[in-house]
Order: sequence, then C-alpha cells, then structure tokens
Amino acid sequence: MAAQALQSGLLVAFPTETVFGLGADATNPQAIARLFKAKGRPSDNPLIVHLGGIDHLSLATDKVTESAQVLLERFSPGPLTVVVPKHTSLASAVTAGLDTVGIRIPNHPLALELLQRCNRPIAAPSANRSGRPSCTTWQAVWEDMQDRVDYILRGDSCQIGIESTVVDCSGSQPVQLRAGAITLEQLRQVVPDIKTWNQLELADDQALPSPGLRHAHYQPVAPVYLFNYHQQVIDLPGGQLAQSACADLRIARSPSESYGQPLTERCLLYQSFYSIADYMRGFYEFLREADRRGAARIYLQIAPANDQGAALRDRQIRAAGRTN
Ligand code: TXA
Ligand code: MG
Repeated sequence: MAAQALQSGLLVAFPTETVFGLGADATNPQAIARLFKAKGRPSDNPLIVHLGGIDHLSLATDKVTESAQVLLERFSPGPLTVVVPKHTSLASAVTAGLDTVGIRIPNHPLALELLQRCNRPIAAPSANRSGRPSCTTWQAVWEDMQDRVDYILRGDSCQIGIESTVVDCSGSQPVQLRAGAITLEQLRQVVPDIKTWNQLELADDQALPSPGLRHAHYQPVAPVYLFNYHQQVIDLPGGQLAQSACADLRIARSPSESYGQPLTERCLLYQSFYSIADYMRGFYEFLREADRRGAARIYLQIAPANDQGAALRDRQIRAAGRTN
C-alpha cells in the first residue's frame, strides 16, 4: 500500500538506518512540490534520491563515476550518499536545478522493500520540519508531520541516529560534503584522495559545494550550549541548571573525574552516553525530549573531532546555531 501511495504521488515517511525519511516520487513534480512545502524546506536545498539496490542506479543517473562506483560497492546498502550527474527523468526541483543528484541505498529492510516494490527513484529528505532536529522515531515524525503527510511507516527507532555521509563524486576531485557514520578514514581506504569541503580553497564569491551548508539545521527550540569538560556544567549557577537539559559523553575520561551526581537531580533531563555510537543514536531524541520538557537551555558535551566523533560534533555545532 505504501509503495502504491508513492507511485500515485503521495508522501510517505519511512524508517532508514540513519534517520526517518519523507519520501515522494522523484519523477513527479507535483509530489516534489508538496514535499518541499510539507517540510518548509528552502527550494535551493536539493533532496537525496533513494533507491532499492545497486541495480536501480540507472533510475537516477546515467553516469556512475569511478569514485562513486567504488564507494557504492564498498558501502551500499548503507549510510552513504554519492553525488553524481543526474538523470533527465528526475523532476528538476529534486536537485534544486543542479545537474547533479545525491543517491543513497539505505540499509534497512522496510525501506529497501518499499523502494524495490515501487521501483522508482524516491526523493527522501529527513522527515523533520526544516531546521528542526531529525526524527529517529516514528513518534517524532508524527509530532512534526502528522497533518502534512499521507502515511508514516512505523519502524523501530533508527540504529545509527544521524544522517548519511555525503560525498560529491561528480567532479575529478571527490569531496566529502557532510560527515556521517561512515568516517573520512573509512572513505579514504577506498578512495584515498577524498577531501573535506572545508579543505577546498574557495574564492570569496564561490558558492559552497553543498547547498545544505547554507541553512540552519538540527535546531531544537531551546538554545544549545556546548561544553568540553563535565566540570564546566557542574560550575554553573544552580538556577541555570535546574531549567536545563544536559547530555554528556562518558568515554575516554579519567576515572578520577567527578561526574557530579547532583546534576541528575537538578536538571530537567540528564542523559549520559557511554560511546559515540550511543550518543549518535540518542542525540536527536535527546534534543526533542528537552523541548518537550520545556528546557530553557541545553548543554551538550562536545564530541571529539576524529573518527565517528566528527559527524556527531558537526551536528552538535549546527544544533548550537554555529557553522564551525
Ligand atoms: O541519512 C540520510 O541521508 C537521510 C535519510 C532519510 O536517508 N536523508 C537526509 O536528507 O539527510 P536531507 O535532505 O536532510 O539532507 C540532504 C543533504 C543536504 O545537505 C543537501 O544539500 C545535500 O544532501 N545534497 C543533496 N543533493 C545534493 C547535490 N546534488 N549536491 C550537493 N549536495 C546535495
Ligand atoms: Mg535534513
């Protein structure tokens, strides 16, 4: 039924291993227009096209470049999006008028079944309202989108919890546009010369390589503050703490560090994560829960800048309304 709904131009939210996506037929301009409207998404921010398998690539592109091929073979299905030249059958709004398209094959049984059954390229941005934290549970999709979409497929909460790694493979120099669960180190094992977008030397008047970098993302209602050491939060005046939500990361810290149990009692919401993967999985839901409880501010312990920490750190920085 959900596959038929997509085929007939309706909007269907579905789970993936990263975050929930909001799907629409990428060849149907009316469906895509509704999708942008439902999300409140700026029209200059292109959508990722989702496919049911490597054998469906020709639905979205007629040129799988060499770097894209190697990366897809190694990491698909999985949390990877490659940007390649687009197929003419895609509605131009999907790619915000660009001649390239982001393609992803999600590693989730329900998503794959849906995509294979409808046998079409499905544009699917994250299923949140534009600018808000992404949705990692169907309840969060319901919260943001209940009166704006036709179906929500209920699945378990998402295993990874943050969005896919995006790599632009359309030019001679492959560029990582968005950090994700597949780390830069992993990408470089198969394509050694991948750069990150901020390593590119852009002239002042040159556009950012990914339009998504221009917009606010992942922001809860409450302002987000980032901290390095737990002690910085313990030292806050009590009143500030009492109305706040605090998330910390309890790894690779010295056992002698005081973790300050009083925080648990004084914060509205207090959550510890014991690994980067755990923090990623719980991150967006933590932000949403802080808003549900009416937290006046949110304190997040910032993730390390290496390996998988890089992707989480990027989302934390953007949730705090900054770009670096
Ligand atoms: O994990 C994910 O990627 C999730 C799930 C649902 O698959 N989707 C997702 O989509 O995060 P969205 O729309 O929230 O983010 C898409 C990102 C944006 O930053 C956008 O600018 C970039 O991908 N993007 C898409 N097409 C592009 C293109 N042709 N060139 C450059 N960047 C592109
Ligand atoms: Mg998004």
